[in-house]
Amino acid sequence: MFKIAPSILSGDFGKLSDEAKRAEDAGADWLHLDVMDGHFVPNITFGPQAVAAIRKAVRIPLDVHLMIQRPDTYYKHFVEAGANILTVHVEPDYDVPATIDAVRKMGAQCGVVLNPDTPFDLSGEILKRIDLILFMTVYPGFGGQKFIESVVPKIRDAKKFLDSNGYRIPLEVDGGITAANVKLAVDAGISIAVAGSAVYGKPDIKKAIEDIRKAAQG
Ligand code: DX5
Ligand code: ZN
Repeated sequence: MFKIAPSILSGDFGKLSDEAKRAEDAGADWLHLDVMDGHFVPNITFGPQAVAAIRKAVRIPLDVHLMIQRPDTYYKHFVEAGANILTVHVEPDYDVPATIDAVRKMGAQCGVVLNPDTPFDLSGEILKRIDLILFMTVYPGFGGQKFIESVVPKIRDAKKFLDSNGYRIPLEVDGGITAANVKLAVDAGISIAVAGSAVYGKPDIKKAIEDIRKAAQG
């Protein structure tokens, strides 16, 4: 089943709880929360307190994307704040398998994220632990960037590899997703799509979500 996860990064930061509720009421399956630390990416957003506030406003799963240098130091605060799915990048230098184990031990799901230039060469130690793989189709840091189509073959190859090796891991895509390109990512193997500006940037977000869902399933 296809899922859409609007990214609140493109919402109004003056009323995050309302924006979260608005996406839920408009039919969002998950809500995507972009946490940035100004080190791993050249932008800063919000921390666990904002996640906890949003948690109180909606019932849909919170998909918390950590774009931070030390996921191993901070994961705990985000799970405690109510993250249901925590995704951690593989590019920084920290113990990824141990962090995944720790997140799952707390009762949340854990996924790994690959930047557009990061090859899909996840070790068995990682693959056997994760609940999800998130493929970036923009360089992380900002909403409203253009979809990098050259990532699509990497997703397709990863999907083939996972299927033929018996890994049933859902794939998610993040960055520049619109109704016009979501089918490309779905055909490559993703089942969850993040969309920021293509949802919150539209006057009617219910219609925006429906348009993306229709295009994904069409
Ligand atoms: C980028 C973030 C994305 C972003 C997506 O660093 O990880 O989740 O909010 O926004 P759009 O869909 O506008 O590219
Ligand atoms: Zn994101």
